[in-house]
Amino acid sequence: MSLQGKVVLVTGGSKGIGRAICSRAASLGANVVINYSRDSVPADALVKEIGADKALAVQADVSKVSEIEKLINAAVAKFGRVDVLVPNAGIMPLQPLAGTTEETFDKVYDLNVKGPFFLAQKAVPHMPSGGRIVFISTGIARNSAVPPPYLLYASSKGAVEQMTRVLAKELGAKGITVNAVAPGPTATDLFMEGKPEAMIKGIAAQSPFNRLGNPSEIANLVTFIASQESAWVSGQIIGANGAGFV
Ligand SMILES: NC(=O)c1ccc[n+]([C@@H]2O[C@H](COP(=O)([O-])OP(=O)(O)OC[C@H]3O[C@@H](n4cnc5c(N)ncnc54)[C@H](OP(=O)(O)O)[C@@H]3O)[C@@H](O)[C@H]2O)c1
Repeated sequence: MSLQGKVVLVTGGSKGIGRAICSRAASLGANVVINYSRDSVPADALVKEIGADKALAVQADVSKVSEIEKLINAAVAKFGRVDVLVPNAGIMPLQPLAGTTEETFDKVYDLNVKGPFFLAQKAVPHMPSGGRIVFISTGIARNSAVPPPYLLYASSKGAVEQMTRVLAKELGAKGITVNAVAPGPTATDLFMEGKPEAMIKGIAAQSPFNRLGNPSEIANLVTFIASQESAWVSGQIIGANGAGFV
């Protein structure tokens, strides 16, 4: 499997799952565009690790359309096109219905839903046939045992899943596939934040493997879907969850 010479753009590519996707794509020969919003240090460190000729860090808040345009323009200015788009940046505030403000609702939907939608719209004109869009959903978008605080987050990823199925039909004519990877609980800042150790152990125990996923395990699936070997896979939501959400 190779991504030799491909241009892979990952939002939220500086940390967690996004960082693992950037590293894996680079190890398969890709040029990578590493987007982040606030913290330039890990993004710059990753560029150094991969090499400045093959990696570009771009600060952009991808919950805003004007910043999405800035990001795509920077990618095209450096590498000429986008072969693989991974709208990975996401947030997961945990509140049930009663505690959720309009501000929180807008924040979640702006980054988790509006961001991926307009990233696709702005990137597609720069994507050749053979292009790939790999959205990132979550196992809890389809699981009926999800507890109440996941209401807003799970609904935002439900929107991403239906976007995947419908957009795959529009972009098939251009030779671009559209899929989503749905990780289970994965050891990143987003997952760990605010959870006591006992809770983390309890969630890990929901997988028959009795552990959390690693970002690199999600990245392995994303880069397979990004490769030419996945050409006949489109419109699919593919889980990576150690049988935790079946
Ligand atoms: N971890 C899990 O258990 C899990 C499970 C299922 C699905 N997911 C999904 O996987 C994706 C990645 O999650 P993660 O756990 O790797 O998250 P993470 O560790 O919190 O990393 C988030 C990344 O997104 C960037 N980011 C945050 N807000 C941004 C914005 N407005 N614009 C651009 N970049 C932004 C961050 O950069 P800065 O720090 O510079 O802002 C960082 O690079 C998310 O879509 C999440 O919903 C995660």
